[in-house]
Amino acid sequence: MNSSLELRKLTTPQDLFQAAAEEVLHAAADAITQRGRFTIALSGGSTPRNLYTLIAANASGSLPWDQMFFFWGDERHVPPDDPESNYRMAKETLLSKIPVPPANIFPVPAEKSDASAAAQTYEQTLQKFFALSAGEFPRFDLILLGMGPDGHAASLFPETAALQEKSRLVVANWVEKLQTSRITFTLPVLNAARCVAFLVSGADKAAVLHEVLEGNAPGEKYPSKLVRPSEGKLIWFVDRAAASELSAAA
Ligand code: 6PG
Repeated sequence: MNSSLELRKLTTPQDLFQAAAEEVLHAAADAITQRGRFTIALSGGSTPRNLYTLIAANASGSLPWDQMFFFWGDERHVPPDDPESNYRMAKETLLSKIPVPPANIFPVPAEKSDASAAAQTYEQTLQKFFALSAGEFPRFDLILLGMGPDGHAASLFPETAALQEKSRLVVANWVEKLQTSRITFTLPVLNAARCVAFLVSGADKAAVLHEVLEGNAPGEKYPSKLVRPSEGKLIWFVDRAAASELSAAA
C-alpha cells in the first residue's frame, strides 16, 4: 500500500463524529482480525472529545476491548488529574465507560517535573510495547488528531523545534506562545501510522484548513501539512463549516 489522502466532508459536527466513530471501530475490527490487536493514539482537544463521548455512548460490551491498546499522541505537561490533561479528558469521556483493561492504557508520565524525562520515558514505553530496534518507528493502527486554529497537530506547533526531529519518537516541545512545554509524538511517528484521522469542525478552522489542504505555505507554518503517512491512509473528517473555504474540487 502507498499513502492515500481522503477528504470526508460531513454536513454537521454530529455527522462528523458519527463518521469518525464508525472509522475507529472499523479500524479496530480490521486490526484485531489481521494482527490480533488494535493500537490507537488519542488526541486532546474539544473535537476529539466529542468523538470519545459518542464512542462511549455507542460502545457495546461485545467489542474485544481487551485487544485494544490506548496511547496519546501528545500531552500537556501536567499531572493526570489536571483539568488540562488529555489523559483526564479521555478517561472521563471514554476510558472510564468501556471495559478496557487498565494494563492496556498507556498515559504519558506528564506528572514528571522534567518534560524531557517524561518524553524519554514515554519513548521507552513505545519501544518496549512495539518491540522496536534502534531507528525503528512504531506503526500505530490509528492516530487521531485535531487541528489547532494555527494549523498545529498533536503538540507540533508552528515554528517549534519538534518539527525538525527526525529520529526521536517522543519529545518535549517548548511552545513559546503558550509559555509551556508539551510532550508530543514526532512527525516520523505520525507518518509511520497505518492510518491518521484528522477531526476538524467549525468555521473558525476554515481559513487554516484551506491553507493546510490547498495553500502553498511551508509546513513549518501549518504543521498539519507535514502529516502524510508514508505507507498509510490519511483521512480528513471535516464538517461543512470547516470546509467552507475549500475549493469546490476538494
Ligand atoms: C491538545 C491537542 C491539540 C488539539 C487541537 C485541536 O493537546 O490540545 O492535542 O492538538 O487536537 O488543538 O483542538 P480543537 O479540536 O479543540 O480545536
